[in-house]
Amino acid sequence: MKNISIIGCGAIGTDLALAIDKENIKNAKLVSVFDSQKEKGEGLVKRLKNKSVTNYTDFKNFYGSLKNEADVIVECASQQAVKNYLFDLLKLNKEILLMSVGALVDKKFLSNIELSAKEHKSTIHIPSGAIAGIDAIKSVKKDIKTINLTTTKNPQSLSGAPFIVNNKIDIKKIKNRKVLFSGTADQAVKLFPANINVAAILSLSGIGFKKTTVNIVADPKIKINQHEINVKGDFGELLVTIKNKPSKSNPKTSHLAILSAIEYLDGLCRDGIKIGT
Ligand SMILES: NC(=O)c1ccc[n+]([C@@H]2O[C@H](COP(=O)([O-])OP(=O)(O)OC[C@H]3O[C@@H](n4cnc5c(N)ncnc54)[C@H](O)[C@@H]3O)[C@@H](O)[C@H]2O)c1
Repeated sequence: MKNISIIGCGAIGTDLALAIDKENIKNAKLVSVFDSQKEKGEGLVKRLKNKSVTNYTDFKNFYGSLKNEADVIVECASQQAVKNYLFDLLKLNKEILLMSVGALVDKKFLSNIELSAKEHKSTIHIPSGAIAGIDAIKSVKKDIKTINLTTTKNPQSLSGAPFIVNNKIDIKKIKNRKVLFSGTADQAVKLFPANINVAAILSLSGIGFKKTTVNIVADPKIKINQHEINVKGDFGELLVTIKNKPSKSNPKTSHLAILSAIEYLDGLCRDGIKIGT
């Protein structure tokens, strides 16, 4: 049995906690949750059958409890949370499941956390999140010649993105499918931060942010978030299309990302047969 602590009691954290509580994740026991917004943790804890879960709103107190109580710490809060807490968490020699992958776009930050994880013998686990095909991309990464992501979203979902604001694009005037941006993942994550987790997971598992290319397409007829991944190389070709429905509690988060976190945590806690690379 592994003891689980969750940082962030929003869409992902809540569904993950409920999955543990309903014993849909085997061999896991939720011991604590932490959220900077008091009502978020309180709201979550009230929904649990397990009344022994401690709810923290202060990182210092939460951190103090982890050393003896937690085996796996799940971050599903924000990029800021990763920047604020990850180095401290790494010192604890625990398994860390990280959802706010966009924080790893910063090359220096990434190499520093890798060094720290090795030094303290901690492991950072990154589920495949809102996309599919990551297991294959990891396996063929040495053979990849090109890797492209085409993300198609309703223009409403792109409103407020720096690319839209900087170019003074009136999204209401987009009446037909339109390619808004083509460039590297490196550029895309800065211009479309809402797409950051998908581009980050793809770049980290394949050939990096500078060699991964991204198209962002606005389509007023689409209601879901669509990601098409096209990888070519000496191994052959890989084509993956994912049509994601949003989570009911946070439309910015795909339901698949939540299921992916649940599945990954289940695998981490389970003995016996493990499938997939
Ligand atoms: N890897 C993926 O494919 C993927 C997919 C979707 C979302 N995400 C990321 O996962 C994270 C969680 O997503 P969500 O939909 O559950 O978000 P959410 O907004 O529904 O919930 C986040 C919760 O974390 C809390 N929080 C934020 N910053 C905090 C901090 N510094 N300290 C303590 N608590 C903090 C908030 O109060 C909120 O309750 C986000 O960073 C999101 O970008 C990753």
